[in-house]
Amino acid sequence: MTAKKGLFITLEGVEGVGKSTHAAFISEQIRRTGRVVTLTREPGGTRAGEEIRNILLHAHETGVTAMTELLLIFSARNQHLEEVIRPALARDEVVLCDRFTDATYAYQGGGRKIAWDRIGTLEWLIQHGLQPDLTILFDLDPQTGLQRANGRSVADRFEKESLEFFARVRAAYLQIARDEPRRMVVLDAAPPIEVVQAELLKLLKDRGIC
Ligand code: TMP
Repeated sequence: MTAKKGLFITLEGVEGVGKSTHAAFISEQIRRTGRVVTLTREPGGTRAGEEIRNILLHAHETGVTAMTELLLIFSARNQHLEEVIRPALARDEVVLCDRFTDATYAYQGGGRKIAWDRIGTLEWLIQHGLQPDLTILFDLDPQTGLQRANGRSVADRFEKESLEFFARVRAAYLQIARDEPRRMVVLDAAPPIEVVQAELLKLLKDRGIC
């Protein structure tokens, strides 16, 4: 296994918080400092991972159970770690990942009610203790988030879930932020984008990243 040297940053939040836009902004700010940024996402980030993403998001008719979903997510993550994340970190790059294992605790743990220790077992199996250096949680009331998300595209398998599901997802994210306040920073995603970006820049400066 290659040793970690670079910086691993992950972005989290319910649907519609603007993660993709914020990811592009953060990536641009860090690139300006001269560092190489690998911008990637989960589920996905590799050819195999994108195929798995397709099953997870669009194959409504396949009837994937919660445990199968969990195993598919960790399969995609394992490929992503081996093919993209660990090599980029070993080259001392910044890896900026749109969702990672906190999403699994939030969606499969909180949303689908799979016990967190089962998720922890798989996490240990493939990550061997590798954790993000910084996770930014864009927090937003799920009703507002889903309205934003559904306004831009046809709802995928997750976006069709109930508001109660997303309320559990949000609560799980906030629980992780309480448990790991140094790693996970919560930003309010409700204000206009310029306001959120100003907060982001301040955070990156405070952490010595920009
Ligand atoms: P995205 O819309 O942010 O690209 O994420 C795709 C969906 O995948 C989103 O609804 C959350 C879901 N997801 C999980 O359920 N568990 C996970 O571990 C990850 C990474 C994503």
